[in-house]
Amino acid sequence: MITKGFFLPHLPKHLAIIMDGNGRWAQKRHLPRVMGHQKGVESVRSVVEECRSLGIPYLTLYAFSSENWGRPAEEVSSLMELLARYLSKELSTLLTQKIRLNVIGEIERLPKNICDILTEIATRTQENSTMVLTLALSYGSRNELLRACRTLAQEAIDGTCSPKEIDEKLFASRLDTAGIPDPDFLIRTSGEMRISNFLLWQMAYAELYFCPTYWPDFNKEALQTALSEFSQRKRRFGLTAEQLKQNETDQHGGSAH
Ligand code: FPP
Repeated sequence: MITKGFFLPHLPKHLAIIMDGNGRWAQKRHLPRVMGHQKGVESVRSVVEECRSLGIPYLTLYAFSSENWGRPAEEVSSLMELLARYLSKELSTLLTQKIRLNVIGEIERLPKNICDILTEIATRTQENSTMVLTLALSYGSRNELLRACRTLAQEAIDGTCSPKEIDEKLFASRLDTAGIPDPDFLIRTSGEMRISNFLLWQMAYAELYFCPTYWPDFNKEALQTALSEFSQRKRRFGLTAEQLKQNETDQHGGSAH
């Protein structure tokens, strides 16, 4: 167990989380799956609070995937209700804690009441600068990539950009995550070891961390354990260890992170 006053020399700048295992958490207790999602909301609250207090500037949560629309209608509507309740309740916290809410995904597929709350919160928190909390909702990375391709193809047809100009920077600027740095750390809970169509472009160099804990049990200590592991990873970005050491020396003793 990690105690209060937790400090690490290297924290991620952008932490992305695949919150998995709500259903199994409930099933293990002979409870309906929705109870797992309800308990999962508490984990969302504590992880947001901890990331903010540690000073992690970007946190992205995979809250509802494009594929999740295929779940039983009852579960989908329970998830939408939970989301609406969470958002309404959390607005004052986001404002007082100076957290900006951002959303990625096909938002227009969400129920109108949720689109309206999301738009209102995003607008009211847009000047906040302590942390950017991004919710991936109705999100699928392949879909996001295709939408970016379509946008650029249309711009080429309209003559506002030439295909030759399309480089990584321009392409990234047409993704839902435009303006947000790529995640440097991904956590997936529940023991599954997949990326599941999440931020495929953006996670090219992310450190991956898989833990067996179901999301409803993922608390501040579990987060601290994951962050400790990140802190020990050597990130090389395709360079050699010697090159990294040289870069560190050049940057007056900075580390490879
Ligand atoms: C995965 O567990 C989790 C989800 C599909 C939804 C995540 C939603 C929440 C944590 C609550 C609402 C979100 C916010 C941001 C307030 P699973 O159902 O796939 O679990 P299983 O793999 O054990 O079945």
